[in-house]
Amino acid sequence: MGLYETFFTRRSVRKYTSTPLSTEVLSEVRSVLDGAEQISGQTASFEILEAVKVKDAATPHAPYYIIARSEQTDTAYANVGFVLEKVDLFLQSKGLGSCWLGMAKPTDVPDDYTVMMAFGYTEIPVRGSESEFNRIALDDISNEDNAVARAARLAPSAVNSQPWKLSFEPGKVVIGYFGRGLLKLILRKKMAKIDVGIISRFVTLALENEGKTVTEVNTDADGKDLRVTVLYN
Ligand SMILES: Cc1cc2nc3c(=O)[nH]c(=O)nc-3n(C[C@H](O)[C@H](O)[C@H](O)COP(=O)(O)O)c2cc1C
Repeated sequence: MGLYETFFTRRSVRKYTSTPLSTEVLSEVRSVLDGAEQISGQTASFEILEAVKVKDAATPHAPYYIIARSEQTDTAYANVGFVLEKVDLFLQSKGLGSCWLGMAKPTDVPDDYTVMMAFGYTEIPVRGSESEFNRIALDDISNEDNAVARAARLAPSAVNSQPWKLSFEPGKVVIGYFGRGLLKLILRKKMAKIDVGIISRFVTLALENEGKTVTEVNTDADGKDLRVTVLYN
């Protein structure tokens, strides 16, 4: 299955088997991590750790975790969302399970620690259809009803808060932060910015699925607002 097709079946997996992944699969994950485009000017780094090296408090328990490290800025958080969402989709396209972890921390927390993603063999099947997704209405998140917006609506976000608005303009899609839900004050500092990067990856892949060429992904952050602009031909 391709990354775009995986939009419609992926889910957060919170139950894993302890079966180890083969060296080949792990090195494939590593190369997707290394090959994933970063937002202009960003240089996040990623490490794959085995479960034993992660604090027990890390829930859900999984055999592997990806630890993301970056600058502690809104743009850098959006970039981590943009990069790791590609890996989330890749893992699930291969029949593996994965889950973003905003609460968990590795045993030794580096100063530039940003977020984690759990992965491994899943005990839970993928979603059977789009009706299994719990998402807000399209017109609450987009100025247009089109295939890209409909696909991007399925993107995951911390506590499913979906803190974004999409604006379709000629040759570009602008993705803005838009806080929602009771937890918005807690989430807005970091998680919501990662979420904006996540949906930007969905928008990019959905445009490519429509035959478009994405020419640039850049951000505009002023400490209060965050916008990602995806330019395409
Ligand atoms: C940045 C981010 C952080 C998250 N943190 C956690 C977490 O700490 N624990 C957890 O169980 N799920 C976590 N999730 C998963 C979300 O709850 C989940 O994506 C959302 O409810 C939508 O469900 P779905 O991914 O199954 O479509 C996180 C998701 C994102 C994007």
